[in-house]
Formats: sequence, C-alpha cells, structure tokens
Amino acid sequence: MPDVLVSENIAGAEMDKLRKSFDVAYEPALWKAPERLFESIRNVRALIVRNQTRVTSELIAAGKNLQVIARAGVGLDTIDAPAATNAGIVVVYAPEQNSISVAELTIGLILCLARLIPAADRSTRNGQWDRQKFTGVELHGKTLGIVGIGRIGFLTAMRARAFGMEILAHDSFINPDSPLVAESRAKLVTLNELLAQSDFISCHLPETPQTLGMFNFDVFSKMKPSAYFVNTSRGKVVDEAGLIRALKENKIAGAALDVRATEPPPSSELNQMDNVIMTPHTAAFTVEAQDRVVTCVCRDVAAVLNNQPARNFFNFPTPQGSKS
Ligand code: MLT
Repeated sequence: MPDVLVSENIAGAEMDKLRKSFDVAYEPALWKAPERLFESIRNVRALIVRNQTRVTSELIAAGKNLQVIARAGVGLDTIDAPAATNAGIVVVYAPEQNSISVAELTIGLILCLARLIPAADRSTRNGQWDRQKFTGVELHGKTLGIVGIGRIGFLTAMRARAFGMEILAHDSFINPDSPLVAESRAKLVTLNELLAQSDFISCHLPETPQTLGMFNFDVFSKMKPSAYFVNTSRGKVVDEAGLIRALKENKIAGAALDVRATEPPPSSELNQMDNVIMTPHTAAFTVEAQDRVVTCVCRDVAAVLNNQPARNFFNFPTPQGSKS
C-alpha cells in the first residue's frame, strides 16, 4: 500500500529521496481522472499536488488515512484548506520558494509589453524588417502600480526600481510600517489613485471571494489609456470579458497574462489581439524555483510521516485529533 500519492507532474532530487524512505505512487495524470483519484486516496497518508488536482472536501473525506496534503506552490485556491483543517490534516505548501521566478517573469512581461517584443519577433520571422512599427516606451521614469505588495509584489518592485521606475502600491492588508513598503520605497495609495496614475499595473493578489473578478471593465476604465496590465497571480481575479471590452475600446494599451480564469483557457478573442501577451502559467517554472518548491514540500511530507513537525504549514505542523 503506498504511503504517498503524487497526482501531478512533480519531480526532483528530493522526490527521489522521498521514494527511498516511503512507498510513493507517482501518477502525474491522475488529476484528470477523479474516480481513480478518489479510489487511490483511500489508503495513502500523504497527497502531493500542484494546482490541477481539485482537493475538495469530498476528496479529503475519502482520504481516511490522510495526514498531510502538500501543495507544490504558494496558492491554496485549489485546496479546501478549511476542510483539511477540520479533519486534522496538515496542509503544507511552498510559501515563497518561487517568488523570485514569478517576479522575474513579471518584469519580463512588462518589458515585452513596453518594447513589443513578441509582436516584433513574429514580424521578423515573417520576413519583415519594420523598425518604426515596433517603437516602444522606456520603463525609466514610468510608474509601476503594484496591487498586492506581498513577497512577490515586493520583489517585482525592487526589480522595477533598478529600471528607474516609481512604485505605487495598493494593499488592503499591508501594515504601512512593513519593511516590504520601506525597502521598496513604494508609495501606498488607494486603488483609484493607483489606477489613475500608473503606466504599468501588476496584480499580485490571491484568489479569494473578495478578489474574484476584481479587475473588471469599470476598473480597467479607470486606468490611463496608455497603461498596460500584467497578471501573474490568479486568473479569476480578472473578469476576462471586461478586459476584452477594455482592450477593444482602447481603455488600456495592452495586457500580459500568465494566468487565466480557466486553465487551460478556451479559445478567446484575446488570442487575436496583438497587444496581448499570454504565457501558460509558467511564472514559477524555472529550474531553480521548482527545485526549491519540490524540496520544500517533500521535506515537509517526510517530516509529517516521520512524526516530526512540518516547517511550511498553513494550519498546524503535526496532524491533529484522530489523524495524529
Ligand atoms: C503558485 O501558486 O505557486 C504558482 O502560481 C505556481 C503554481 O500554481 O504551480
């Protein structure tokens, strides 16, 4: 009987190490087969997922022996963490192991928007040599508005500073005395101020009932018509119909999306827009970040299975009640 079930593609040296100590059922496509997933979870003590396995309260209830659920990433929106908590199951994750990579991709997308890099690449491949068409804008002296200045927003701000950008930040939960604000020299403003004054707006929000569809047509309409919007956080924070309308009506100049409301996304008008750049939720996909993420969660899974406390836990470090 396996101890650990891995239902997505999660590999690395620490996963190999986990296999040496525990019986690991590695089924990277299992997330696509809910019936088999429910069957497979019955006897295992640990479940390791990325973001495609829907870890619902029903799945958690089916895991009678489950002691720990590990999310190889930071967002917990695909896991019913309260249900796991009620069941006494430890939820571990990788709270900041991929932050640098996400911040770097955010800056990459900002540069792509400012300098029209993907469109210029497509044009050059087609045999054209149209330099004027690809006249971009500098980042230097422009204002970057960061919505959500947690770890990733902060790291993005620090990198933008190196380009000579001014930083505005809006965050309903940040302590104004936080070092994240002081060190990035971000000016904390209201959302409306940020929307009105920023040349680039980068969203770094978790998916919560409060943030769902937050970037809608009205919000985009408050931005400068020359502003660019970047989202490397969660797709559902954007109302895509509102974004499409805003782009069509020239309320904003363009957008870069690493995340989508539905992943993989259905065919969309966004695909035809030259001022839109899209990547398939790859912000955290670097060799370094994946190594840190997999190391972090595999170590915590091994700790819990060895009756040791987890380090990067969302709820508690050891199983509670009947699961202990
Ligand atoms: C995260 O939540 O860590 C990133 O969005 C990457 C992922 O979902 O795997």
